Amino acid sequence: MSFLRYPADVLTGIPEERIQFLKQYEDWFTIEAPALRKITDHFEQELGKGLTEEGGNIPMNVTWITDFPTGCEQARVLTMDMGGTNLRVCHVKLEPNRRDFEHTQRKFKLPGEVKTGTGEQLWEFVADRLKSFIDDHQIQNSISEKVPVAFTFSFPVHQTGIKSGVLQRWTKDFNVAGVEGHDVVPQLTAAFERKQVPARIEALINDTTGTLLASRYFDPHIQVGSIFSTGCNAAYMEKCSNIPKMRDEGFAENAKVIINTEYGAFDNDRKVLPLTSFDRDIDRKSARPGTQIYEKMVAGLYIGEMLRLVLLALHEEGRLFCDQDISPLKREHCIEAAFLSAAETDTSEDLKGLRKEFEDYFALSPTLDDLKICRYLIGLIGIRAARLYACGIAAVCKKTDSFRCHVGVDGAVFKKYCGFKARASQALREIFDWPEDEFDLICLNPSESGSAVGAALAAAMSMGCEAGKRS
Ligand code: GLC
Repeated sequence: MSFLRYPADVLTGIPEERIQFLKQYEDWFTIEAPALRKITDHFEQELGKGLTEEGGNIPMNVTWITDFPTGCEQARVLTMDMGGTNLRVCHVKLEPNRRDFEHTQRKFKLPGEVKTGTGEQLWEFVADRLKSFIDDHQIQNSISEKVPVAFTFSFPVHQTGIKSGVLQRWTKDFNVAGVEGHDVVPQLTAAFERKQVPARIEALINDTTGTLLASRYFDPHIQVGSIFSTGCNAAYMEKCSNIPKMRDEGFAENAKVIINTEYGAFDNDRKVLPLTSFDRDIDRKSARPGTQIYEKMVAGLYIGEMLRLVLLALHEEGRLFCDQDISPLKREHCIEAAFLSAAETDTSEDLKGLRKEFEDYFALSPTLDDLKICRYLIGLIGIRAARLYACGIAAVCKKTDSFRCHVGVDGAVFKKYCGFKARASQALREIFDWPEDEFDLICLNPSESGSAVGAALAAAMSMGCEAGKRS
């Protein structure tokens, strides 16, 4: 396929004139190196703007965590992680100087109605699950004791300390009434009281901050913690002297603090990102139009939806699934990121894996040409997501002059989406123009320790639980 730029082997056998239209899609979804660099430069400026009093699109939230873990942390803490899909409760035991931990974990699915109900319903759901975990594992030592809890709340919050945080806005597919603009800690604590849960919140952190702490605990080269999953975000350590909005906080000259960037909000004012009509559609139909524009172009919650909109458009133009009943594809968000990843691992000549996915999930019987075209489009969408993801990481690294470092990345989509890491690393190579024979200077390393360790470290640090201090 001489007219296409991306590896088009998968299209072999289809006459060129039948797939001329793909050129247009390739133009829409391809982001070449110069554009990546332009986006990264603007991204870096916006990160800086978020640190000023006047602010910008990116919140750059101060976490009040001023150190990395030393390895001496010693604590037993309960951690709760409210991610996109599940609530994970964990009992973590940190041992000093072993960089080791033990944990017992339980996962509860967050039902859709809890994500879109009222604050009271949400917090009582969380309190009930925590109580059953405490009871089942007999965690409370004495009847008067309140168990310390570290809460990973993966949404943008404005914090004035580690134990509080006012929700700025819901992101991803959460839309719970009565929480935005309020401190989530007293709301949750009130639910603990109503449900008689013997627990107290010792730390409120973001999942990216948790990933940064947990990854750094095991690897001193880590400078950035990032999540690529339902949502997309990163945290890093910043010098307080670079944070004009903290000028009055009285920090020492050389003090540092972890910033949860919340960079999913990058380019909400639509200055540089090459939005397609499909991106605009996704934004328009989302719970909060005009917000999280970057996240909506890259993250796991949206790439399946992107594919769905493209397939529907092509069906309407008579180019795909001709004479088929495509009504199952009309349900919003019916394609998940895992569908794309599975398709990309299908290297069989007749694409039987992808065919089975379409048959099983959507009762469709695509022709082999249909399958090849879908496979090609999935590649374009997956490649675009990975390349744009690299811009955020590159911007944070540029901002901190970290041109040789490790980035700890957590999140199901990063870990499971076939080829994602290689594509993002290739984009970093292009952005920084590393010599061909050079290894990756910025390495995207999967964070293996799970979210609980980071939260437990934050609580241990906040409680001053280090061996040699107090336990
Ligand atoms: C969204 C949230 C952010 C979180 C990310 C990954 O961007 O706003 O807080 O870190 O998703 O879960």
